[in-house]
Amino acid sequence: MKLIIINGPNLNLLGKREPEVYGSKTFEDYFSELQFKFKNTQLEYYQSNIEGELINKIQEVGFSYDGIILNAAAYTHTSVGIGDAIKAIETPVIEVHISNTFSREEFRHQSFISPVAKGVILGFGLQSYDLAIQSFLG
Ligand code: DQA
Repeated sequence: MKLIIINGPNLNLLGKREPEVYGSKTFEDYFSELQFKFKNTQLEYYQSNIEGELINKIQEVGFSYDGIILNAAAYTHTSVGIGDAIKAIETPVIEVHISNTFSREEFRHQSFISPVAKGVILGFGLQSYDLAIQSFLG
């Protein structure tokens, strides 16, 4: 089982960024915990603040990996291009969010990812990623 977590803009600042919303742990630290917990799973991590780079990565892994766990962050609510990339590939995508986007501002209620994702997990803090991995492992 080969899975990749793809994080979008500003998620490189986890730990420092709005800790009351996103927690105080860095993603690197959390990713090490995930690698330890899911030892038998090939787990990769990629982050970019740039929309086109996220699309390139989705295309690159989207015909050979078993699953993509995607937190497109703010691009979730704006990017037709990322939605189209997900439609174009074969690998199933689980959309994740750390916060419950539906309990926040109205503009966060819109997602270009949800209609083309296999499923959506949101609002469980960093545990949203763990739950998404588990969904692929069955
Ligand atoms: C987020 C929610 C988005 O609305 C926001 O733009 C983010 C993070 C989350 O994980 O809760 O950057 O995707």
